[in-house]
Amino acid sequence: MLLDLGDLRVRPWRKDDLDALLRYANNPKIASNLRDQFPHPYTRRDASDYLSFVRAMDVPTSFAVEHEREAVGGIGFRLGTDIARLSAEMGYWLGEPFWGRGWMTRAVQAASEWALDDYKLTRVFAMVFSHNVGSVRVLEKAGFEREGIMRRSAIKNGVVLDQVLYAKVR
Ligand SMILES: CC(C)(COP(=O)(O)OP(=O)(O)OC[C@H]1O[C@@H](n2cnc3c(N)ncnc32)[C@H](O)[C@@H]1OP(=O)(O)O)[C@@H](O)C(=O)NCCC(=O)NCCS
Repeated sequence: MLLDLGDLRVRPWRKDDLDALLRYANNPKIASNLRDQFPHPYTRRDASDYLSFVRAMDVPTSFAVEHEREAVGGIGFRLGTDIARLSAEMGYWLGEPFWGRGWMTRAVQAASEWALDDYKLTRVFAMVFSHNVGSVRVLEKAGFEREGIMRRSAIKNGVVLDQVLYAKVR
């Protein structure tokens, strides 16, 4: 996958992304909005294991968001199985120095359209902690529709949270 969005690209992770991944992913403000699978602190070992894992996937589903040849964030899909095989869940993050420039809105918009086409899906969805106003805005601006609130559906850092469900369907 390679989406050329001008000053941004969405492309496969590379081995030499390790330093950039470590630089931007090791941030509690990012980890606290993602699954526990995305650790904090984010160590060099975590970064190296992640890059090995995603680079070995048969069907690539995790991509770097690149700016000026540097990986500054990530966007990925979890493909559904069985009766949910036409759906995928999307997740994303961006390095804090780049927040508020509209970048993730553009990346999410383009990557979700790409995923619907390329994986031949009927649905891409995302679940956001209800307090994550920035991410909710990203999804709304990227053409996702709010489907409802999944009350008390997650526990993060010991706190039970509501998640908002957003989807784009075709
Ligand atoms: C969420 C995240 C991806 C947003 O990326 P971004 O490139 O800064 O997003 P954009 O600039 O495209 O859009 C952010 C929007 O949210 C708004 N926003 C951001 N923080 C906000 C806040 N605390 N309150 C209200 N609005 C907020 C911005 O104003 C902007 O909306 P606008 O264009 O209408 O002004 C980034 O902050 C991030 O990586 N956060 C940590 C990880 C995460 O939350 N991932 C998503 C998990 S579901």
